[in-house]
Parts: sequence; C-alpha cells; structure tokens
Amino acid sequence: MAILITGGCGYIGSHTCIEMLKAGYEIVVVDNYYNSKPEALNRIKELSGKEFPFYECDIRDAEGLRRVFRENTIEAVIHFAGLKAVGESVQIPLTYYDNNVSGTVVLCQVMAEMGCKRIIFSSSATVYGSENPSPLNETMPVGAVTNPYGRTKFMIEGILSDLCVSDPDWSVVLLRYFNPIGAHESGHIGEDPNGIPNNLMPYISQVAIGKLKQLSVFGNDYNTHDGTGVRDYIHVVDLAVGHVKAVDYALGHTGVEAINLGTGVGYSVLDLVNAFIAANGVDVPYVIAPRRSGDVDTCYSDPTKAAELLGWKAEKNVEDMCRDTWRWQSQNPKGYNK
Ligand code: NAD
Ligand code: WQD
Repeated sequence: MAILITGGCGYIGSHTCIEMLKAGYEIVVVDNYYNSKPEALNRIKELSGKEFPFYECDIRDAEGLRRVFRENTIEAVIHFAGLKAVGESVQIPLTYYDNNVSGTVVLCQVMAEMGCKRIIFSSSATVYGSENPSPLNETMPVGAVTNPYGRTKFMIEGILSDLCVSDPDWSVVLLRYFNPIGAHESGHIGEDPNGIPNNLMPYISQVAIGKLKQLSVFGNDYNTHDGTGVRDYIHVVDLAVGHVKAVDYALGHTGVEAINLGTGVGYSVLDLVNAFIAANGVDVPYVIAPRRSGDVDTCYSDPTKAAELLGWKAEKNVEDMCRDTWRWQSQNPKGYNK
C-alpha cells in the first residue's frame, strides 16, 4: 500500500515526501519536471535513506497514470501537481485551466476507475478572496478570487466537493495553505524558482546572496502596524507534516473537509526582512516601491480546525524559517543546478 504524490519533486512536494517517508508511509511520486529537477529526487532519497518508485508523467496523461495505479497499490493521493504563478496565470489562463483543472479531472477519473477515492488537495488561502477579514476561517464564503490561478483552486475545490456528493466513498481534504517559506533544516532541499522570484522570501534570499540588487517593498501605506503587507508565513516542513496528518485523517473518514494550514500569526514585509537580517547576519537592501496590484493589507489564518480535526499545529517560528531558507540558499546558490 502506498500514497501517490503528484508534483512530488516540487517545493512543497519534496518536503512532504521526506515527512511521509519519516512517518513510515510508502510513497510513489509522479512529476513532469515542468517546474522541478531530477536532482530533487536524489536529495529526497539521500535525506530519507529510502527508495521509492518515480514516474515522469503528466497528470493529464490518463494512460500514464493508469500504469502508475496498475504497478502500485495506491491507497490515497496527495495532489500537488499544478502551475502556481499568479501573474503568469493572467497572461496564459487557458494553460492554467488545462494544467490545473483538466489535470485534476483526469487524475480523479483514473482514481475512480482504479478504485482509489481518497485525495488531499493543495488549495490556497487565495480562495478566500479580498473581502473576508482575517483571521480567515473555513466557514467564510470563498470564490471571490481575482485571477485565473486562484480560480483554478476554487474550481477544483468545487469539483472535488461534487465528487463527494455523487459518491459517499470519496474522502477529500482541501488544504488551504497560507504563505509557505523556509526549507529542510539540512539545507539540501528548498525552493528553486525559475527566473526572478515572484514571492517575497525567495526574493529576500536572492538579494542576500547578491543575485539580485535590492528588494522592492510593494507599498508602505497599508493599514498595518508598519504600513507594509501582513501575511501568515508558515515553515514548509510544518506544512509537510500537516499533509501526513491529513493522510492519516483521510484514511479513516469520508466526505469533504476544507482545512487551513497556517500559523495564525501575521508578519509584515519589513518584519520578515528584519527577521532575516537578524537570524542570518546578512544585509538585505530594500527600497519602498508602489503597491502591487491585487495585494491585500492583511491575510492570516484561524488554524483552529486543523488542530481539532488533524491534531496539527505549526511548531516552527519565523527565525527557523529565515535560518533554514538561508542555509538552503547559501549552500545551493544555483538551486538544484548546483
Ligand atoms: P512547485 O511548482 O514547486 O511544485 C509543483 C510540481 O508539480 C512541480 O514539480 C511541477 O513540475 C509539477 N507539475 C506541474 N504540472 C504538472 C503536471 N501537469 N503533471 C505532472 N507534474 C506537474 O509548487 P509548490 O510551491 O510546491 O506548490 C505545490 C502545490 O501547492 C501547487 O498546486 C500550488 O498551487 C499549491 N500552493 C502553493 C503555494 C505556495 O506559495 N508555494 C501556496 C498555496 C498553494
Ligand atoms: C507577500 C508579501 C507582497 C514580493 C502568493 C499568492 C498566493 C499563494 C502564496 C499560491 C505581500 C510583498 C512580495 C516582493 C514585496 N500562492 N512583496 N516585494 O502575494 O501573499 O501570496 O503566494 O497559492 O496565492 O498570491 O505572497 O510572497 O508574493 O507576497 O513587498 O518582491 O510580500 O506585496 O505583501 P502573496 P508573496
């Protein structure tokens, strides 16, 4: 019996592979390397000391997926595979709908065909839109999303919920991540973005290592304690452990549950920059720049449901997040390209 991890070579997937293996699960990984490198697999195997089957396969390839299910006994799927760049999704929406939405439909069709009806899905806090006040909880209305990426997450949540209505055997956990940052404490795996990073933490660490000149802080006139945007940053290893707990849960329940994975605490852009400088003794030059379109003042979670349902809460603090990010970045200045 094994757990299939789609997108298992990516940032969150690679850390989840390690935590699943550590918890004693067998895993099978599928990835098409669209946004990841084979080296990530080598590092997962080195760190865990374990072997597992890997298939270079696109989740839209039904026949490829059937082979994975025929050659392994899959109990449940953790589904990370997808495209995730908000700005890019505005430029190429059809690519996002095809990859994320159609890909999930094909995956679920093959799962149903093969009798595997348990799925943990990578959703996002983005489904809460900009109208709900923080702390965000799972009873709040979702769907007022502002970009195609967010719409794919909202649509997939709906598709998976519909499946549970159609067939009571399905077990679906919709994990709504807040802002994952950090890296494995070994410094051997971490986030390896292509090109110039869109997200704050990889940008900070590339400035610190001298790859980028300075950080642009997008707006200092928000309604927050220092005027810069506030987010709920969560260590990627805590997030990965949340997936182990979600699998434990899904194996014993049916129906659909949406669950936030966040810390419940918000930090501003300048809080994070200062924490990074303090934790690592490095310089992070920045300038104040105009607001980025689509950004909200404040976004953080109410993490109560995850504690109650999964027995999970985030353990690592912002210093851990900054220190581990820097260990990965400084040991791997070119990411997985060595
Ligand atoms: P990532 O890009 O590092 O990982 C995604 C992996 O999926 C990559 O290895 C990529 O090659 C693979 N992939 C993409 N399309 C595929 C396809 N059609 N077939 C097979 N493999 C495919 O991203 P991540 O940060 O690890 O995010 C994982 C998931 O979590 C995504 O679904 C993302 O939308 C979601 N999420 C991420 C964040 C975040 O801030 N990182 C926040 C909320 C939700
Ligand atoms: C964080 C804060 C920026 C870059 C995004 C997606 C969301 C989810 C996580 C997938 C904001 C500020 C950033 C920079 C800055 N992904 N910032 N300078 O926007 O909260 O969330 O990633 O589901 O859907 O929207 O994260 O890291 O881009 O920004 O000042 O160069 O940092 O304005 O306040 P965000 P982020």
